[in-house]
Amino acid sequence: MESREIREKFISFFEKKGHKIIPSSSLLPQDDPTTLFTGSGMQPLLPYFLGKKHPLGSRLVNSQKSFRAEDIEEVGDNRHTTFFEMLGNWSLGDYFKVEQIRWLFEFLIEEIKLDPKKLYVTVFSGDGDHNIPRDAESAAIWARLFEERGIEPKEVDLITEENGGELGMGEGRIFYYGVKKNWWSRKGAPIAMPAGEPGGPDSEVFYDFGREHNPEYGRNCHPNCGCGRFIEIGNSVFMEYVKEEEGSFKSLPQKNVDFGGGLERITAAANDNKNIFEIDTLRPLISEIKKLSEKGEGDKSIQIVADHLRSVAFLIADGALPSNIGQGYVARRLIRRAIRHSDV
Ligand code: SER
Repeated sequence: MESREIREKFISFFEKKGHKIIPSSSLLPQDDPTTLFTGSGMQPLLPYFLGKKHPLGSRLVNSQKSFRAEDIEEVGDNRHTTFFEMLGNWSLGDYFKVEQIRWLFEFLIEEIKLDPKKLYVTVFSGDGDHNIPRDAESAAIWARLFEERGIEPKEVDLITEENGGELGMGEGRIFYYGVKKNWWSRKGAPIAMPAGEPGGPDSEVFYDFGREHNPEYGRNCHPNCGCGRFIEIGNSVFMEYVKEEEGSFKSLPQKNVDFGGGLERITAAANDNKNIFEIDTLRPLISEIKKLSEKGEGDKSIQIVADHLRSVAFLIADGALPSNIGQGYVARRLIRRAIRHSDV
């Protein structure tokens, strides 16, 4: 399946559920001094999570071009890129967990035809320090959906970095993780958020590429262990809290949904091919670079060069010309890294 088809299916699926299409914003944020780049579809929508009325209503969908400089060192493996397209749907105080989780599952299974047995999901285990409860509600919704498909919805609790993922898969389907993995805000975990920042628990979907577990990541594999067997293909954030001055959390005036799923990763899952550099939008770049070099298939440097050239093209198109400050500096750094990795 090609990316174009998946993008179109996603947009039309959510249009049929009453969502209005919004255009992709620039990679260079317009009114957000807190960040250099647009790294997710929710960034330009922030005021609407806090209660401002969006002119197109309370259900929105789009495909947002995104850039994440923080992933730069990871690029070259099978699943990280600095530039990607994020498929997004949003509820601005409209529907919440039941609809979001059910629709996402339906989209992945019915439209993209992913095998539900290859999907594993995660939910938030709660944060006692900030009085934020565990998300048993999302777990129960997922459990019903898996049961309807004849898949045992076994829950595995509290796999943490501290216990080294000791619990492993344990034949689980629904996994609870803490603030590091299943809480989303622009600034990360609750403790790191400034006053006034909205955030919430999230629920991620992982696709199992069935590769053998790499024991370097610990003895036991689990969806978040990072060995590359599981790839996160979507994240539903239940944006319902805001941090207060004294550090506690209160409910936002409205409960929002912020879903983001990497188009490149969903395409890789649809093709059951764990290397995102082999999907239709990246493959031609890889082939061309390979022709010009003496390196072989799956080479890390070729994948880095392909990613960086693609990112720089999109950054320059949005106005970040290579320079020695700010956004332009990042463009320059990408070009330098691409040159370094070309130097065989
Ligand atoms: N904002 C969330 C993310 O970036 C979901 O869109 O993962």
